[in-house]
Amino acid sequence: MKNVVFIGFMGTGKSCVGRLLAEKISFSFADTDILVEQNCGMSIPEIFAQYGEKYFRSEEKKAVKEAAACSNIVISTGGGVPTFEENMAVLKKNSIIICLCASVNTILQRTKGRNNRPLLNSDKDKVQQLLDKRQPVYKKADFIIDTDDLSPLQIVNEIMLYLKRRKN
Ligand code: S3P
Repeated sequence: MKNVVFIGFMGTGKSCVGRLLAEKISFSFADTDILVEQNCGMSIPEIFAQYGEKYFRSEEKKAVKEAAACSNIVISTGGGVPTFEENMAVLKKNSIIICLCASVNTILQRTKGRNNRPLLNSDKDKVQQLLDKRQPVYKKADFIIDTDDLSPLQIVNEIMLYLKRRKN
């Protein structure tokens, strides 16, 4: 089977669901944010603060290539990954792309109290604006799931049904 890649906005559950799916289908798991942090030896907020977003994005592109070079892997990507066409081109080559969606209220609820995302703040309008701007790239996924009312396990079950239906 192809690799499985999760795309979607911050706080939609890509890492949690990705890890769970990987376990269920006996694939390995990678998270581009974790790869960037490991490769740079610092946290994402530190990278943004010391080197800026441009540097983060170039490290993120390297992480995408690194993960996509593996087989039988589930990859969770940072929310900005699909906004770069070259990332999507690399991922689409050998992966099924799944987008997790959530409303702004859910996103703010799920990310509340954490300050590990430099591009996310509690201003609902600003989050909605960024979400709207990115919507067209998220919609390029092969399969899109609204996660608002689903548990991680329910989401994984839906994805497994979809993967079975596809049979490739
Ligand atoms: C970002 C999302 C984050 C992380 C970085 C930038 C974005 O990942 O890559 O803070 O541009 O949406 P998550 O989507 O895993 O929070």
